[in-house]
Amino acid sequence: MNAQYDRIGENYSSNRKADPRIGQLITSALGDAKTVINVGAGTGSYEPIDRDVIAVEPSEKMIAQRPSSSALAICASAESLPFDDDSFDAAMAILTIHHWSDQDKGLQEIRRVARKRIVILTFDPDARPWPTRYFPKLAELDAIAMPSLESLTRRLGKSEVRIVPIPHDCQDGFLYAYWRRPEAYLDAALRSGSSSFWKIGDVSAGLSDLERDLKTGDWYRSHPDLLDQETFDAGYRLIVAEL
Ligand SMILES: C[S@@+](CC[C@H](N)C(=O)[O-])C[C@H]1O[C@@H](n2cnc3c(N)ncnc32)[C@H](O)[C@@H]1O
Repeated sequence: MNAQYDRIGENYSSNRKADPRIGQLITSALGDAKTVINVGAGTGSYEPIDRDVIAVEPSEKMIAQRPSSSALAICASAESLPFDDDSFDAAMAILTIHHWSDQDKGLQEIRRVARKRIVILTFDPDARPWPTRYFPKLAELDAIAMPSLESLTRRLGKSEVRIVPIPHDCQDGFLYAYWRRPEAYLDAALRSGSSSFWKIGDVSAGLSDLERDLKTGDWYRSHPDLLDQETFDAGYRLIVAEL
């Protein structure tokens, strides 16, 4: 299996831990589902512990970082799920759909194996949180890799789109998690927690602009509203489809 995260996922579990407040939104979206398939499960973040969960993950390196207490993980991809139709009450797919080689096929597969509900955490490619001004290639990448919310809901059928407010001290270091901690983007180790930074390549120009704006105080003067906020709508969305 050609698993990109075998290369970039080496230190995933140190940068990427479930944030309990986001976890609560995911758990409540799963509703009464007792059996859950977690597709693109990675190291097990956000897997509910009070349900019967099976994880699907194509990268052996990610599977190896799963805690020993976590759900059974099968090495497979969203596009070909090794389960019968209607095998699970719910399917969850958290910050993974933009990595799928065939999103249509993956969505068909999760619809096939889920009986009641699908819960997807994704990012609205029309959102432009402030880091995209320093690293414009992030916005270009988002536009290519992230499905539009309209195309997702069209393919999933009856579904609700919920805003996922990102706490200022979010414990999960995904791409736009550091919206109130701008200096974090200067740290190569923190950037390595996001596949987008691996993909866009040279970010030296954006780094020196950001470093300069932090030193001169321009960044703080340009974002007075952000500094007082506890949470921020960076563009992350929970799609909850009832089947
Ligand atoms: C950003 S990580 C998210 C992992 C986990 N869901 C989380 O929230 O921490 C994306 C995951 O999607 C997986 N992935 C990539 N391509 C996939 C595919 N075609 N089918 C299923 N998962 C895939 C990657 O290996 C990686 O573990």
